[in-house]
Amino acid sequence: MAVAVTALTLAELRQRTSEKWREYPEEVLPLFVAETDFPLAPAITHALERAVRDGDTGYVASHTPLASAYAAFAERRFGWRPDPAGMRSTADVSMGIVEILRRVIAPGDGVIVNPPVYPPFFDLVDEAGGVPVRVPLRDTGEGWQLDLDGIAAALQSGARAVLLCNPHNPTGTVHSAESLRALAELAAQYGATVVSDEIHAPLTQPDARFTPFLSAGTAAEQVGFAVVSASKAFNLAGLKCALMVGASAQAQHVLRDLPVEVEWRTGQFGMLAAVAAFAPESDEWLDGLLLTLDANRRLLADLLAVHLPGTRYRMPAAGYLAWIDFSDLGWGENPSRRILRDAKVALHFGPAFGAEGAGHVRLNFGTSPEIITQAVARIAALRTAHAESTE
Ligand SMILES: Cc1ncc(COP(=O)(O)O)c(C=O)c1O
Repeated sequence: MAVAVTALTLAELRQRTSEKWREYPEEVLPLFVAETDFPLAPAITHALERAVRDGDTGYVASHTPLASAYAAFAERRFGWRPDPAGMRSTADVSMGIVEILRRVIAPGDGVIVNPPVYPPFFDLVDEAGGVPVRVPLRDTGEGWQLDLDGIAAALQSGARAVLLCNPHNPTGTVHSAESLRALAELAAQYGATVVSDEIHAPLTQPDARFTPFLSAGTAAEQVGFAVVSASKAFNLAGLKCALMVGASAQAQHVLRDLPVEVEWRTGQFGMLAAVAAFAPESDEWLDGLLLTLDANRRLLADLLAVHLPGTRYRMPAAGYLAWIDFSDLGWGENPSRRILRDAKVALHFGPAFGAEGAGHVRLNFGTSPEIITQAVARIAALRTAHAESTE
C-alpha cells in the first residue's frame, strides 16, 4: 500500500541550494520553477550514497542498465515496452530535443509548438535552427486539446516537425490516444517528424491514461521520437540524465548516428539515480507521490474557490503544475509580477508561455499543503488590497 510522500518543512527547504531556493530572498515563497519539495525516493538515496562512498564519480559508462530500466518502467506504468536498443542517453530533455530536431529539420524549417507551452520550447526550436510555428491548444470549455486542423494547416504550409508536450506543461493535459494517433497520421501524410517530450509522464494520475506517443500506432512509430527522464517525478534535474527513444529503424539510425559526445554529457549521478527511480523498488514511492499530488491539486481547487473567486483553474491530469487564469480579477497581463512584488510569492509568468498566457500564472504545487495554503492566503490578501485601492 502506497503511503503519501510528505514534503520537507520550510526551514529544511531553505537549506537547499538549488534554483528554487536561491533565486529569491527568504521572505518569498517560491512556487515557480519545476522542482519539488519532497525527499528523494529511498532507492535513489541509496544509489547516490553508495556512489559517493565509493568515489564512483567518473564518466558514465557506454553500457548502463538505464535503457532496460526505462523499458521495464514504461511497461509497468504505461503498458508499453520500448526497445532498449533504440535509446540513447544525454544530459537532459532539452538537449535531447535539440539534438534530434537538428537532425530531422533543415535550418529555417518550421517546427510546430502548441502554446501555452513550456517557454524554453520556443528557444529549443531556435537553437536547433528551426522557426517555431504556433498552433495553440484548443480550449474546449472542459479541457485542452491539440488543434489537429491547425496542425494540418501548418504542416501543409511547410512545417517539418511538431514538438509535442505530452503530458502538456503548463495545463497538465494528458493527450488522448486518438489525438496522438491522428497527429501521427498527419505527420506521416506530410513527411514530418514528431518529437514528444514525455518528461511529466510518470506523474500521470491514475484517473487519466497516459499514451506514450510511440505506442500510438504504426504511423507514430514511423514519425516519432520521445524524450523521457526521471527528473521531474523524482526531482533529479540537477543530476543531468535523459533518454532519447526511437522506435522505427530510421529513428534508431538517427539516434545511433548522434556524435558520441551527446551521450558522454549524461551525468553519472543522473544515470545512477534514474536507474534507481525506474526500478520496481521505487514504484510504491511514486504511487505515494501521486497520492500527495492528487491531494494538493484538490486542495488548491478548494483554496482558490474560497479565497480567490473569479480565478479559473482546471485540475491537471498529470504533474504538479497548476495553470491559473486571473483575467477576471483585472490584475493585468502578467499577474505574477504583482504577486511577487506585493504578496512575496514567486509564480511562473503566464505570458512567457505564449500570448495565450496573458492574465495567467503557473503555480508549482509539488510542495506541502502548508506552503500551498500560505501562498494562496498571501495572494488572496492582495485581492482585498486591490478592492480597497479601486474603491
Ligand atoms: C515539458 C518540459 N520539458 C523539459 C523540461 C526541462 O527538462 P530538462 O531539465 O531535462 O532539460 C521541463 C522542465 O520543467 C519541462 O517541463
